Amino acid sequence: MVYDTIILGAGAAGMMCAAHTGGRTLVLDHAKAPGEKIRISGGGRCNFTNMYAGPDNFLSQNPHFCKSALSRYTQWDFIDLVARHNIPYHEKTLGQLFCDTSAKDIIAMLRTEMQAAGAELSLNTAITNVTHDGTAFHVTTQSHGKTQSLQTQNLVLATGGKSIPKMGASGLAYDIARQFDLPVTDTRAGLVPFTFSDNPFKSLSGTALPVRATASGTNFDEAMLFTHRGLSGPAMLQISSYWHEAQDISVNLLPDTDAFQALRDKRKTDGRRNLSTVLAQLLPTKLADYLAQEWALSGNLADQSDASLRALSDKLQNWPLRPTGTEGYRTAEVTLGGINTDALSSRSMEAKTLPGFYAIGEAVDVTGWLGGYNFQWAWSSGWAAGTAI
Ligand code: FDA
Repeated sequence: MVYDTIILGAGAAGMMCAAHTGGRTLVLDHAKAPGEKIRISGGGRCNFTNMYAGPDNFLSQNPHFCKSALSRYTQWDFIDLVARHNIPYHEKTLGQLFCDTSAKDIIAMLRTEMQAAGAELSLNTAITNVTHDGTAFHVTTQSHGKTQSLQTQNLVLATGGKSIPKMGASGLAYDIARQFDLPVTDTRAGLVPFTFSDNPFKSLSGTALPVRATASGTNFDEAMLFTHRGLSGPAMLQISSYWHEAQDISVNLLPDTDAFQALRDKRKTDGRRNLSTVLAQLLPTKLADYLAQEWALSGNLADQSDASLRALSDKLQNWPLRPTGTEGYRTAEVTLGGINTDALSSRSMEAKTLPGFYAIGEAVDVTGWLGGYNFQWAWSSGWAAGTAI
């Protein structure tokens, strides 16, 4: 069968692209339903974009690459689309927009848009071979024991990254890109909890507090959660994308307080209290107890010199931690790295050396922060390719 466009992957980017291509379009996916990650995202409510999305919220070897698509199909364009489909939504925090009812509303919207564009969808379909004969692409598929040979002028890679293999994530986009001589940068898990050997924080599991987390010179002010395996919560997920193995992260446990001044003030009013009691006025009790033990804090506050209060406040506001690693692709929300943007046009997402070959979404080396940015990249890059085809 002959198509104008075949899109590999019926995820966020693939569906968005299919909704905007003209001609005869087919979307292939090995999953039994389209948009599975949309369905589970945002706790089932899909944080579908962020009101403040801009190029600064993305990581890439080329931080300029995402600018074109993001500025031509913005969060406001997607919000308009959501509103046109009468999908109720709300801002949760920090510009993050979620569906009021269900992430399934977004999937249904994309399916409707795809149908309106006349795109066909083939699920439960394995992609077994892709070739190019100099003029057209040939895609071999296997579905319900049947092999099919398809031909297309345009081929769009939209099979995403490696995160959550249990949900069908695969490295297919990278393999096909390499097959056609497009470079792929190193990939690693992003937006992922940290692990520590012999997790020292086990006893704190479930404790959460607002912190400022820093790695590689980047800060995030969000909540941190101690877990039975290490550290999680939005602050840790965000900073994990900036962290590299054998590096420390720094945690400011009192991001909105001058800890030294606060301790000095308390020395005047609560001088007879011991240090862990005073810390428990500033931090969750379990954490205060843990730190008092870990840092061998003893004695009353009145006994502490300015120098020792300064040393303690420095530790509270710059607590260095060395994760052993992360939970990896098993639980990561995204894959950092991917198809090297040098090989693609930032306007159309088309390969510079292979006309008709496109890559969009998470498969490309553009990774957003936590908070709706990754879907915005899927919408913007999918739209850019779809409208260019
Ligand atoms: P996506 O992964 O969506 O789609 C790829 C498609 O290709 C899938 O349908 C898959 O089945 C198919 N595929 C893969 N390999 C294949 C193969 N070998 N053969 C055939 N088909 C294949 N982002 C955000 O902005 N807001 C949020 O709330 C969340 N929440 C969230 C929660 C969780 C648990 C995860 C794991 C991720 C998020 N994200 C997120 C990230 C977001 O889901 C992700 O960045 C986008 O889905 C990427 O869109 P793509 O279309 O590029 O890939």
